Amino acid sequence: MNQQVRKVVFPVGGLGTRFLPATKSMPKEMLPVVDKPLIHHAFEEALAAGIEQFIFITGRNKDAINNHFDHAYELQSLLNEIGREKELAYTRDWMPAPGNAIFIRQQEPLGLGHAVWCARHVVGNEPFAVMLADDLVLGPRPCLAQMMEVYAEKPGCNLLGVEEIPLERSVRYGILDIAEDYGKLVRASGLVEKPKPEVAPSTTAIMGRYILQPGIFRHLEETGKGSGGEIQLTDAINRMTAETPAYGFRFDGKRFDCGERAGFIEANVAYALKVPGLREQVLEKLRAMLDAEDHAGDTERQALLAR
Ligand code: G1P
Repeated sequence: MNQQVRKVVFPVGGLGTRFLPATKSMPKEMLPVVDKPLIHHAFEEALAAGIEQFIFITGRNKDAINNHFDHAYELQSLLNEIGREKELAYTRDWMPAPGNAIFIRQQEPLGLGHAVWCARHVVGNEPFAVMLADDLVLGPRPCLAQMMEVYAEKPGCNLLGVEEIPLERSVRYGILDIAEDYGKLVRASGLVEKPKPEVAPSTTAIMGRYILQPGIFRHLEETGKGSGGEIQLTDAINRMTAETPAYGFRFDGKRFDCGERAGFIEANVAYALKVPGLREQVLEKLRAMLDAEDHAGDTERQALLAR
């Protein structure tokens, strides 16, 4: 079996109900963080990790994602005519080579596990990555590249990007039951999808980054509906622990939950602060806003004191 991780699966079929009405006719993965859609950030992270093939599991109303990874002829020819080289580069210079972006339709939203299973024929018999575009990680080095290094030390395992969460948020994540804790790396004896805090085996949660063995497809086939009535990837990884060890890797960096409004806004601010030129403008505006907030009650207070 080829041990090199060359392929990534992007499950992008989800409905994005937490962002309505923004996501009524637009995929949630196309929401921008500063000037790139979420899926583009994930794509760049995969590229930086040496991934060569990009498998998108899409659904109805997700055509904007396919279009993003294709030429925009009208726009490009116009930019070309008026000599806007930089903008032209933004539209196309990063595009995957023909045949390296593969789009598969998941006809029904039956869960993350089902979405990944839809990629089985394209992935074949080799390890592969899964990235959830909702989870944006800003770190000293791209998260998946960090995971690749760890994977090289532990080939043949299932490796999951993890972070510690407050216990009361366990119902939002796949949680590891930890057998051994080595610091940056933990070995899981089992995994539970979205447990209630009182039964959560730990506070170590999966953060939308996976390197998986192809054996997962067989387990996904046998995995029934789990949490939320959906076929869960976490459940299949859990079933697999008897034959394939599952490790959690505490990556360097901060993960932003762009699947909910506050996390999405936080990610936009954090990314903006990393862009020279934009950073100064945004800081100035933020300071002014915070200042205005701090003094919002002043007039009222003064009026009360004057009585
Ligand atoms: C999915 C996974 C969950 C993981 C989470 C990370 O849940 O099922 O195990 O912890 O992503 O964001 P979702 O957020 O799609 O409900």
